[in-house]
Amino acid sequence: MLAHMQTERFICPLCREPFGSEFLCPQGHRFDTAREGYIHLLPVQKKGSREPGDNPDMLTARRTFLEGGHYQPIVEAITTAFTHTGTLTSLLDLGAGEGYYTQAMAQAFPEAAVYGIDISKAGIRAAARRYPHCRFAIASNRDLPLADQSFSHAMNIFAPLVDEELARILLPEGYLVRVSPAPEHLREIKALLYKDVLLHPEDTYHPQGFHRIDRTRVQQPFVIRELTTLHQLIHMTPYAWKLNHIDPTDLSTALPLTITLDVWVTIWRKLSILR
Ligand SMILES: C[S@@+](CC[C@H](N)C(=O)[O-])C[C@H]1O[C@@H](n2cnc3c(N)ncnc32)[C@H](O)[C@@H]1O
Ligand SMILES: [Zn+2]
Repeated sequence: MLAHMQTERFICPLCREPFGSEFLCPQGHRFDTAREGYIHLLPVQKKGSREPGDNPDMLTARRTFLEGGHYQPIVEAITTAFTHTGTLTSLLDLGAGEGYYTQAMAQAFPEAAVYGIDISKAGIRAAARRYPHCRFAIASNRDLPLADQSFSHAMNIFAPLVDEELARILLPEGYLVRVSPAPEHLREIKALLYKDVLLHPEDTYHPQGFHRIDRTRVQQPFVIRELTTLHQLIHMTPYAWKLNHIDPTDLSTALPLTITLDVWVTIWRKLSILR
């Protein structure tokens, strides 16, 4: 556990001034490092709701499911993507959840300073407790408490993103690796829960001020044999609310179930200032 988290790269979320050696800004705003080693930089007035982001149940489901290794092809694809994007010195995971991918990149690139932020307190607390070598903060992608041009790389996996803030914190010609659902992603889960299956629409997202370097489609079927694993996976999706309206025996009779993992891994590069 980190006794004192370094303030490097963080700025005060209220007046946007850099911190000194502690989380105390020149205007006197002080922020405390939690016992678990993360910093809470989401001011009450910017929180939106009382406990924003994924709740503890969703996070436990996510962690247990991810640790089963079914999404390992995503880890491999983002590792490959970062290997092709220059020297990774500093990485920010935007919407890190409970830190599964953040930690995986810290392990793959041990020389890099790896940060993860999320608005979910439960997520960041779990991440910091488990992965003390990464720096975690409760913060919003809408208003990042991070200095301008302070990261060489960013990553964003199944989470919302705000272009202006992303562009601000990245160095010129810095990279973003983004993972988003491709058309067939979890098609079989939708078929279990809905009469008509709507495939994911084409991903037309293009962050302003960036150009696309590469896009890879990762398609990999995996098999779910246990009802609890199926529940965990559904809990990770936007369809989790459907679980209350479905007969559990309908789910168990579907097992074992082969499910399609289908995602885009896109590499974006920030345009240099000169352009
Ligand atoms: C589907 S989860 C993905 C988490 C993680 N990247 C993963 O794939 O395991 C989406 C995450 O985005 C977070 N989130 C939602 N809105 C956010 C915002 N404005 N700023 C930062 N995180 C946000 C949620 O709390 C949640 O942890
Ligand atoms: Zn301040």
